Amino acid sequence: MSTKPVEDLSPDEAEAELARLAEAIAAADIAYHQNDAPEITDAEYDAMRRRNDAIEEAFPHLIRPDSPGNAVGAPPVEGFAKVRHQVPMLSLAKAYTEQDVLDFLERGRRFFERDKDLELAFTAEPKIDGLSASLRYENGVFVQGATRGDGSVGEDITANLRTIKDIPHKLKGSGWPRTIEIRGEVYMTYAEFQALKARSAASGGQHYVNPRNTAAGSLRQKDPSITASRNLRFFAYAWGATSEDPAPTQFEAVHKFAEWGFPISPLMARAKTVDELIGHYKKIEEQRSSLGYDIDGVVYKVDQLELQRRWGYVTGEPRWAIAHKFPAEQATTVVRRIDIQVGRTGTLAPIARLEPVTVGGVVVENATLHNEDYIAGIDSNGLPIRGDVPIDIRIGDTVVIQRAGDVIPQIVRVVLEKRTADAVPYEFPHTCPVCGSPATRDLNEKTGKEDSRRRCTGELICPAQAIERLRHFVSRGAMDIEGLGAENMDLFFNAGLVKTAADIFTLRDRRPEVQKALAERREQQARQREVLSGKTRKNVRSVEDRNYEGLDKLFAAIDARREPELDRFIFALGIRHIGETTAAALARTFSTVEELIRVGKETAAAADPKSVFPSIDGIGGTVIEALVDFFGNQRNDDVLDALLAQVRPKPYVVAVSANSVVAGKTVVFTGTLEKMSRSEAKAMAERLGAKVAGSVSAKTDILVAGPGAGSKLKTAEALGVEVISEDEWFARVGQ
Ligand code: IVH
Repeated sequence: MSTKPVEDLSPDEAEAELARLAEAIAAADIAYHQNDAPEITDAEYDAMRRRNDAIEEAFPHLIRPDSPGNAVGAPPVEGFAKVRHQVPMLSLAKAYTEQDVLDFLERGRRFFERDKDLELAFTAEPKIDGLSASLRYENGVFVQGATRGDGSVGEDITANLRTIKDIPHKLKGSGWPRTIEIRGEVYMTYAEFQALKARSAASGGQHYVNPRNTAAGSLRQKDPSITASRNLRFFAYAWGATSEDPAPTQFEAVHKFAEWGFPISPLMARAKTVDELIGHYKKIEEQRSSLGYDIDGVVYKVDQLELQRRWGYVTGEPRWAIAHKFPAEQATTVVRRIDIQVGRTGTLAPIARLEPVTVGGVVVENATLHNEDYIAGIDSNGLPIRGDVPIDIRIGDTVVIQRAGDVIPQIVRVVLEKRTADAVPYEFPHTCPVCGSPATRDLNEKTGKEDSRRRCTGELICPAQAIERLRHFVSRGAMDIEGLGAENMDLFFNAGLVKTAADIFTLRDRRPEVQKALAERREQQARQREVLSGKTRKNVRSVEDRNYEGLDKLFAAIDARREPELDRFIFALGIRHIGETTAAALARTFSTVEELIRVGKETAAAADPKSVFPSIDGIGGTVIEALVDFFGNQRNDDVLDALLAQVRPKPYVVAVSANSVVAGKTVVFTGTLEKMSRSEAKAMAERLGAKVAGSVSAKTDILVAGPGAGSKLKTAEALGVEVISEDEWFARVGQ
């Protein structure tokens, strides 16, 4: 780096130096973030950035398109290519009790009830607590490996997966499909985790929380030799896209994987009855502590692949499998403080700050307290929830907490014997800790009871609500704007650049202000780093440098979402009680945003909203009330208008088998079906893109009538609806 004062630089010198600095800073970023191996000190790094900024300020016309100053935050690890999974990587429904397992078997029995002689068999095997990976083999050769990602799109981590000794580079034996994606779990043993922690402590390095997170971090290294040094392991238990079924059953398929060179769980068994399944669950639970790696339950899967296919899928999960979780692990600790967070819809959410304690391998420092009544120890009826009398939670109390999987830890019990005299009952605030507006509890008109949650009445004047809404708006399941995570949203909000969602789409017009906000943050972070340098250097830098995207890239990412899918858009609005599933149901029903708004306003204006709103499967009074609140509020109207001046949500089209002959048709089944149960019929029709209704109306396209059909058949005939038999149905859909 030159030491010549900036004011003495000629334009040519300035230009040349900016080019050198851009390159050097980019290289330092890569060394630091992606290779985890910084080559220069923080002070040197900061000096380069300051020099770069100073030159840019003096020669604004020389600012490069790839200027380090254009960086919006900075990235943990970029540079893994995205891989779209041809067959999505699903998650599993969960069972917590034996009753849940019985219900699962019962659902299966009912689904297949037409097949009198059919015998459902299951596999049972440990649920490994690691990361799933998909390994693609072509002609027996490992060609590509990916993370699960969001289930549809993962990251290409082939080079890292190649370093795992359990993963064969070439399949052994013979008879493998021409192409097959082997799926399974990458995990780290306790022994390896301890060894890594010991090595790290000796060299004053990083802190590792638990084996699962460490395995995750190890897989996302830019340098495969780091992954290799972590000695990760792999179990194969499933598959994705394949040119042919590996075998007719799950059990045989997984054993084929063993022949081809993969480790498979030695604890996999076949079972038919609930007693056999639970028996195997108990056997695995007994061995849990001696396995040497984390497992968090037992997975049951239908064994016969043909029956797996028939039973099918719900959103993101197979119907034919379930994860039976082990009970939550518990520990005892002390409540240090109670904090209140204000959520997107204004809910005051109390959180217990705890003395850190390890529960099942994870350090826990927070627990949710749900609401005011929960702290007081009563439920919505005023009845005690922890024991026979109401026992409240006080600051300083010793409590038993439990943690189940990824959920936030809960306080299950207060150890009263350890309560000290200075532990006073907690007074829940009646004003919003963020904006000072009154925080009230709504009265539920139906039940006549107060809502359990206290809510801030400040709505959009409450910064906490406004910012939470914005964060929600850009989040993954909602508008999913790349490079505009919670952190940048906070920055733009605090800088006054974005007040409501519509402002996001006009950011480009305010480029200089955006750049200034980013520069100020960088400056502040650099100062912070100076103060902290040496001590917590790593942490500071990694926070600062998250999400490294050029400004142009950010603006492009925003533009790319100007025509969002309707269901995402509805979800993004953040209307109370409207989650992803409900948003999708609304999108399906109304098809366009204009129609939703029209019906929403009409409903809000009606004396009896419920009689106006169309009947939609899964949508009841609570959602309708939330829609009435939303569409009845002028402020939301304005926000929505401004937003729709910027974005055009795409009309909703049913994506499933849109080319089948019944796609888009409304079908009703009636009478006795002989080849399939009612729920199987419904599932099949929906898979083919049809809408299944419960009653016949003028909107019905096809009535499938079995023997014994009664009034529906009459109505259909009267309305001139096409009526076909079950056989004709199968002939028509070609199955
Ligand atoms: S089967 C279609 N089997 O659990 C079924 N998953 O909650 C797909 N997992 O993402 C999964 N052990 O990471 C299956 N023996 C096992 C498993 C297992 C762990 C994980 C996997 C998956 C998650 C689903």
